[in-house]
Amino acid sequence: TSPRLTDRLGRRISYLRLSVTDRCDLRCRYCMAEDMQFLPNGDLLTIDELAVLSENFIRRGVRKIRLTGGEPLVRRGIDDLARAIGRHIGHGLDELTITTNGTLLDTHAEALAAAGVRRINVSLDSRDPDRFRAITRRGDLADVLRGLEAAKATGLAIKINMVALKGINDDEIEPMLRWCAEQGFDMTLIETMPLGEVDEDRVDRFLPLDGVRAQLAADYTLTPIDHRTGGPARYSRVEELGVRIGFITPMTANFCDGCNRVRVTASGEIFPCLGHEDAIDLRGALRSGQSDAIDAALDEAMSIKPDRHNFRIAERSAAPAVRRHMSVTGG
Ligand code: GTP
Ligand code: 5AD
Ligand code: SF4
Repeated sequence: TSPRLTDRLGRRISYLRLSVTDRCDLRCRYCMAEDMQFLPNGDLLTIDELAVLSENFIRRGVRKIRLTGGEPLVRRGIDDLARAIGRHIGHGLDELTITTNGTLLDTHAEALAAAGVRRINVSLDSRDPDRFRAITRRGDLADVLRGLEAAKATGLAIKINMVALKGINDDEIEPMLRWCAEQGFDMTLIETMPLGEVDEDRVDRFLPLDGVRAQLAADYTLTPIDHRTGGPARYSRVEELGVRIGFITPMTANFCDGCNRVRVTASGEIFPCLGHEDAIDLRGALRSGQSDAIDAALDEAMSIKPDRHNFRIAERSAAPAVRRHMSVTGG
């Protein structure tokens, strides 16, 4: 049996974020430019290859796999992939989950639940239809709401991801929280990170979450709780509403010490850190059919995992820390 994945700093890697496509049906302004170049389809790992690669990660000690994109549900064969990975739940894998924009959830929720998915994260930055369209450039809020209903009906636990954007959706944070409480959803707020050139100024949009938390705490009792999902959010319970809120604070409160994850792109590159350009190719090793070659590539990735990101959104500049967009690695 091969050793569990551990980096130079002794951090155990137990969480794989597997991007199945870099494409998306939306173009969120903080995430993508209007004009995006996507991978040619020929560069993508096949569904079978993605399943085999997942098995190799599980063999090396990964216990949680999250399917990401771009938008994972636009990838053909995604339900088959979920089923293939889902077979490992209880046999090395603890959790299979997905982060989605929700537009296609109504046609996939049941298949995901049947594959063993119990919990999904759905990105939703606004519940106002016009604003939702403005942020996503082409989204229809009704599609997401329909998707959420379908997911709820299948019994999936849902967490809403909201990127906090100054002057865009800051006035919706509290209403979103109340709505999540009504719906029985968890909610996480995310600080915007400087990945890839977008057409908007990230400095103008950056909203530090320590201030948001303080504002919420003026109206509600926020009790920090030890709710661990394996992700970077730190949770509190909002006592008056009976809802959990998580804060993801890469910019204002670094959480890299406890990093337990790596990401793999749809073309089979492993990125040991979201905040660095370095990647190791896994596709060649995978196509060689030799698990030794895969192990060697994974070990190399462990050896180059940096201690932390150095994202900065300074006074006047939010030059991207890395050239690639969030959609390449699914966050
Ligand atoms: P849970 O399993 O529910 O904890 O989800 P998660 O937070 O791990 O995953 P999700 O896809 O919902 O990610 C939410 C946000 O956290 C996204 O904006 C990700 O880019 C960000 N995120 C996840 N992992 C990391 C990380 O290792 N570093 C940084 N800087 N951000 C991360
Ligand atoms: N900064 C922070 N979060 C981002 N996301 C996409 N781009 C960025 C960014 N630049 C979020 C999406 C989704 C999650 C996977 O990452 O809204 O919820
Ligand atoms: Fe880990 Fe890098 Fe994320 Fe930090 S930025 S938590 S080191 S992946």
